Amino acid sequence: MVGGQSAPKAAHDSNRFQVPQAPRVLSTNGEIGASRRRVLEHDNCGVTTRNSKEKQHFGDDMARLKKLIAGNWKMNMLHADGAALARDIVEGADSTACDLLLCPPSTLVSWIAETASGSVVSVGAQDCHEAENGAFTGDISASMVRDAGGSHVILGHSERRHGLGETDARVAAKTTAAHGVGLVAIVCIGETESERDAGETLNVLTRQLDGSLPSGDDDGDINGTNTVIAYEPVWAIGTGRTPTLEEVAEAHAHIRAHLEKQVGEAGAGIRYGGSMKPENAGDLLAIENVDGGLIGGASLSADSFLAIAAAATT
Ligand code: 13P
Repeated sequence: MVGGQSAPKAAHDSNRFQVPQAPRVLSTNGEIGASRRRVLEHDNCGVTTRNSKEKQHFGDDMARLKKLIAGNWKMNMLHADGAALARDIVEGADSTACDLLLCPPSTLVSWIAETASGSVVSVGAQDCHEAENGAFTGDISASMVRDAGGSHVILGHSERRHGLGETDARVAAKTTAAHGVGLVAIVCIGETESERDAGETLNVLTRQLDGSLPSGDDDGDINGTNTVIAYEPVWAIGTGRTPTLEEVAEAHAHIRAHLEKQVGEAGAGIRYGGSMKPENAGDLLAIENVDGGLIGGASLSADSFLAIAAAATT
């Protein structure tokens, strides 16, 4: 696990680029990164890089070394419980294992960032607005997430797509906003049960990828450093049900192939979410193209979250 001062020396350590005074930004693939703009400008020796391809390939290599285990706390936890949970996770984290990320409710981002400060655990938010600021009661902007100490933001979660009518276009706009301030965007996609029953799963994933990732002038330079895809079948979220291992493998292979066409071979890593728990994490995380997990219910206990993290490395 990297992202903190106790991170082990990785094979690519000499390529590690660190930006003072910016929130820690884990690359989706396991190394400390920085904002997209900064990634294109500096390495840790202060040498200007020649082009972004090196970084993209570096990120691609790292994808094979580390997995990202992220906890989506959803609308759970008041300060005392959240801080205790974060503390237990920070203390139990194995700095040689996978990358860990906690996404508490926005009220707790800065508290948890403080608790995790100097550790190998990073912190993110569960959503942000696409606008920089303005009259959007109840929303928070990407720069507010960053200001609170967040390095990542979950976007397009099905509970927002289906519960709040969030569209692919809106998710793409939010992704652009997140990239604009150097946040890693965790873009969620996934089919409903009726779409799976109708044999539409792969078409839905294609449509959501095409619509939810910025393109054209706003393409945001999607790469393995600034974007994570989370495949979360809607019917598996919070239900205790998961797709078969073959179905997960098929979906992730499809996403990988489509991403390679859409954004190039060094595209974003792909995490699985939906009823992942210690009992099934080892099998799910061993599937090719499953680069980590986005965990809901099981992230609310340090024991189960850390057990999933342990499964990611065995
Ligand atoms: P569960 O792990 O509770 O199924 O939730 C998954 C999820 O929605 C993560 O974003």
